[in-house]
Amino acid sequence: MDMLKSQEVIFPVLHGLYGEDGTIQGLFEMIKVPYVGCRVLASSIAMDKVYTKLVIEKAGIRQAKSEYIREFKGKYIYIDKNFNEKISTLDEICEIIEKSLNYPMFVKPSNSGSSVGVNKVNNRDELKKGVEFASKYDKKILVEEQVIGREVECAVLGNEEVLASCVGEVKSAEEFYSFDAKYNNQESKTVIPAEISKEKQDEIKALAKKAFKAINGNGLARADFFIEKETGNVILNEINTLPGFTRNKHVSNAI
Ligand SMILES: Nc1ncnc2c1ncn2[C@@H]1O[C@H](COP(=O)(O)OP(=O)(O)O)[C@@H](O)[C@H]1O
Ligand SMILES: [Mg+2]
Repeated sequence: MDMLKSQEVIFPVLHGLYGEDGTIQGLFEMIKVPYVGCRVLASSIAMDKVYTKLVIEKAGIRQAKSEYIREFKGKYIYIDKNFNEKISTLDEICEIIEKSLNYPMFVKPSNSGSSVGVNKVNNRDELKKGVEFASKYDKKILVEEQVIGREVECAVLGNEEVLASCVGEVKSAEEFYSFDAKYNNQESKTVIPAEISKEKQDEIKALAKKAFKAINGNGLARADFFIEKETGNVILNEINTLPGFTRNKHVSNAI
């Protein structure tokens, strides 16, 4: 603790639980040491996919259609859009979900990261397994409809005055950007700048800044989007408050 207190400023280059979710940021606040990046609230919102959805929806930014489930002591609870809860069997919950979302779907732990616990599912059986698997990582589980399109990302920097970087495109070597595709498969690439029109870039940059402001961001973040193939719509996937500080360099045609 004394070592932390004696620092002029701390840059917490940490991922996930305790590092990126507002916990360590709370510690820095308590001991009054300046630090880089988002503060407690923005870090916790961005770390939690269910709560990111709520804020981003308020901001009027497009997102994949989704449903929310919670696990409690081996039981599953379906949570509707107004936070009404329905304890039910996993089969019944899947039936409700199938009425609002089409396969393929993505099942994700609400709090995780690096694609850990994320699975693409194509039918009831896979959906059930996906929910059970995701619940090992977090009691809150998000099920989303698949967005078919390109995956792009845009960094934002600043506090009151926010700047957006140019847009990069993720070219996953695997079916989706799984843990393996991110960290082990050297064929995955990030193309910077993305080969998209200036208008699309500008739209993405504006949305990245808006999303950052909406979660009450500070310092830096990276907003990840899909560009839907059929419509060209820009759809927010998530915001990472301490993004991509890994040894991997997938960047091609970087400037
Ligand atoms: N709704 C979706 N439609 C299409 N692909 C998705 C969807 N959700 C997630 N993915 C794929 O799964 C990857 C990991 O999901 P993501 O929500 O970004 O989790 P994490 O926070 O672990 O990075 C994404 O980079 C993307 O390739
Ligand atoms: Mg991601």
